[in-house]
Amino acid sequence: MRRTISAITLLLATTACATTAPDMVSAPGERGMIAPILTTPEARDSSTYAQPEVARVTHVALDLDLDFDAQRVGGTAVLDVLAQPEAKDIVLDSNGLEIQSVTDGAGRPLAYEIGESVEKDGKGAPLTIALGGARQIRIAYRAPADASALQWLTPEQTAGGKYPFLFSQGQAILNRTWIPTQDSPGIRQTWEARITAPKPLDVVMSGVRQGEPEDLGNDRRAFRFVMDKPVPPYLIAIAAGDIDFAATGPRTGVWGEPATLQRAAKEVGDTEQLVEAAEALYGPYRWGRYDMIVLPPSFPYGGMENPVMTFLTPTFIAGDRSNNGLVAHELAHSWSGNLVTNAVWEDSWLNEGVTSYFENRIVEAVYGKQRAEQEAALAFAGIEETLAEVGRDAPGTALHHTSSGDEIGSAITYDKGHFFLRTVESIVGRERLDAWLRQWFDNHAFQPATSELFYGDMMANLVKSPAEAERLKLREWIFEPGLPSNVARPDPQAFAEVDAAVDAYASAGTIPAAYSGWTSAERMRFLDNIPKTRSAAQLAELDSSLGLSTTRNNEILFLWLELALANRYQPAVAQAEEFLASVGRAKFVRPLFQTMWNQGDWGRAIATRIYDETRDSYHAVTRGSVDRVMAKK
Ligand code: BES
Ligand code: ZN
Repeated sequence: MRRTISAITLLLATTACATTAPDMVSAPGERGMIAPILTTPEARDSSTYAQPEVARVTHVALDLDLDFDAQRVGGTAVLDVLAQPEAKDIVLDSNGLEIQSVTDGAGRPLAYEIGESVEKDGKGAPLTIALGGARQIRIAYRAPADASALQWLTPEQTAGGKYPFLFSQGQAILNRTWIPTQDSPGIRQTWEARITAPKPLDVVMSGVRQGEPEDLGNDRRAFRFVMDKPVPPYLIAIAAGDIDFAATGPRTGVWGEPATLQRAAKEVGDTEQLVEAAEALYGPYRWGRYDMIVLPPSFPYGGMENPVMTFLTPTFIAGDRSNNGLVAHELAHSWSGNLVTNAVWEDSWLNEGVTSYFENRIVEAVYGKQRAEQEAALAFAGIEETLAEVGRDAPGTALHHTSSGDEIGSAITYDKGHFFLRTVESIVGRERLDAWLRQWFDNHAFQPATSELFYGDMMANLVKSPAEAERLKLREWIFEPGLPSNVARPDPQAFAEVDAAVDAYASAGTIPAAYSGWTSAERMRFLDNIPKTRSAAQLAELDSSLGLSTTRNNEILFLWLELALANRYQPAVAQAEEFLASVGRAKFVRPLFQTMWNQGDWGRAIATRIYDETRDSYHAVTRGSVDRVMAKK
């Protein structure tokens, strides 16, 4: 019995290296690494139906056709399974998948059942398959037409206007709408894929493309990809469209529509340096190449850290690389998130907070201390604003939290997480924190982690004395709401000049002459902090003297539109409409609708009119978040 696994191996809750006994390798191929799972109670993922202690997926092989006419994905998924000897079933996650057949590796039918679905929580339903001793299962299926992980764009929705486009977004629990597997961040799987697409479209995935595409003769081509490192399934991603590639260095490059590629490539021209800076901080980049794709503007996020192929919004392109913290951020996830992964979404600060700290360190290394301090100060202001809004005792303001309401947003998971590590750095010193983080990534590489594991590791490998532990307040930082008193505040000098300009504007209406020479962060600080209530004349003056409505920087444009709409400034409405019709990034779109919605009849009428026009063009993530805004009375 080559592939019989002992209960001990399956149940292994490991904090040590990956277990790679040769007899655990599932045929075909020598994939080597079977990633361990965590089985401590707090590592139990409530967002999956899988029971990985009984049977789990170790490898996914997809063979899928992209049907742009029907806007459907379909084909087969062959799963390698690691199971207890006595395991009867394996439970997968499915959200709307149309299952055509399930067989074992030899083609013998296996009984299966799709269980009850709790409506609208996105968790979908359990797909339970009777193993009958099988250790490989083959599922023929189609993704539903409304699979929320996938966005199909018509040619009109692309920059080129000639060809359709498809992209996926898996995080957090969307991939179960197009891939039948155990969709939990604590259950890592290697994968491979064969994807067919109509000519002349190109396909990229979050895996390594194998050779040249195969011409199938029927106006279609087949592309092959392999990810030989075990990854959580939310990191399987695909994009297809009329795209080209531009190198930015020997192991980095960017894909994009021909119409945006040159601008994109210029904007990410520092990528090779960012990778080098990241490696100098926390050890070698372990994924081979680091490529990016700049997607059409309906991509619902700023970026997504899909391995070897970061997905990016085109809205970060400002012409001056000022929003490149985004690239540093997604790159940093190659360690925090993709190497060491939160086992449950309640611990997503382990991905996003650690990454935000890491991002800031990369920015410091490549762009200098001042820019890094300014970006940190902006983040800190966001934490304080959020705490003032939701209350310092709101449970959702603990790093480890169960409710992730829209109103708390990223200030806690990202920015409080960032300031937690800043605070640790201020107490133990940079050298010790860096050494600790490096061993954290090395010792938990390709494994899941929890808040408790992180805490335990810090206590064991970083903290030197009970007195130091007391000063650090680790448990308060991780498990309690609010902001601990030992927080390392940002340098008050970071924005000294801008803050003085804010005061001068607020008290005497002085428009800062220095604005045109300010950094992007300085401009944002100014717009964030000036008085929120402005007359039409004051807004017109701000706009004409600072060129707000004509900026190429979407972060600035967004702040301007927010300010203008909050003051019912009619001249900004047409521009807001144009922006909302072309951009689908939820971070911009949701607050703009919210701001209009808060403006009573005036704003609600405009919001409703615009949303009627734009809703269909948004990704399901953005649509969902705006629906929630517009449903509130
Ligand atoms: N992993 C996130 C995107 C994400 C978060 C998708 C939660 C689904 C659920 C990505 O790394 C991210 O944080 N993006 C930010 C970038 C920013 C903080 C620089 C974004 O999209 O704005
Ligand atoms: Zn992130």
